[in-house]
Amino acid sequence: MLEVQHLSKTYGSGEAAVRVVDDLTFTVKEGEFVCIVGPSGCGKTTLLKMISGLMPATSGEASFDGELIAGVPETLALVFQEYTRSLLPWLTVSENIALPIKKKHKREDCERLTREALHAVGLDSFSDHYPWQLSGGMQQRVAIARALAYHPKVLLMDEPFASVDAQTRSDLEDLMLGLRAQFGITVVLVTHDIDESVYLADRVVVLGPSPTRVVEIVDINLPQPRDQITTKELHEFANLRGHVMRLIKQRVDSRNGAATLS
Ligand SMILES: Nc1ncnc2c1ncn2[C@@H]1O[C@H](COP(=O)(O)OP(=O)(O)O)[C@@H](O)[C@H]1O
Ligand SMILES: [Mg+2]
Repeated sequence: MLEVQHLSKTYGSGEAAVRVVDDLTFTVKEGEFVCIVGPSGCGKTTLLKMISGLMPATSGEASFDGELIAGVPETLALVFQEYTRSLLPWLTVSENIALPIKKKHKREDCERLTREALHAVGLDSFSDHYPWQLSGGMQQRVAIARALAYHPKVLLMDEPFASVDAQTRSDLEDLMLGLRAQFGITVVLVTHDIDESVYLADRVVVLGPSPTRVVEIVDINLPQPRDQITTKELHEFANLRGHVMRLIKQRVDSRNGAATLS
């Protein structure tokens, strides 16, 4: 469904040119939950911006349902870390959710889609609140509802739970697993949190430090439904987590070693 081939990005030009993303190739199948994990600053947001058509690649290509991505495809929805910047403070929760779908649908349909999305994230009774009247975790639920109301084929998420406390974070992780089970949506979630990537994903694409490359694509064969306690108690979970951690640590250590030698 989503195909990324030899994707690279260099910021700047001439002497100031910095390669950030280096020849990434991977695919995402329909209905799959794929996490992309890599150290901070390795180029994860850069990668998502290219996949979502917000920024052109320097070379390589990303295609969606067989069509090259140029400009933001209508069938993609994005959720960012900074919910405070993605929701409009002067609109209510339901107005925020309805905003991107208003042009496409009649008023009644818009209202129904908004109601369904709010219900899916457990915020039925907050439709007339303003974002600033809600906690961070609730605002992120609104951002997720807005993406769901859009009925995207792929939901792209950039460190969506990095700005909330640990308890809220686990709640939101489980919300995503539930939504995926309920609606069969395809999710690509970027995170620097190894535990989170292993807990959520069917497959984890492990990225190395900048200029980032795919280090390994790890299949996560943990049983579904996942559970914050029992899944994380499994030996298999500890093994996978250790494996991904080692892959990233080795790459970061060898880069730092190389930097001290040169
Ligand atoms: N618009 C830009 N121009 C120049 N450099 C950038 C730009 N955006 C990001 N970078 C640099 O690219 C690298 C990767 O950034 P980013 O994709 O945000 O990483 P991540 O999301 O993994 O933390 C960083 O070193 C960052 O400073
Ligand atoms: Mg980022």
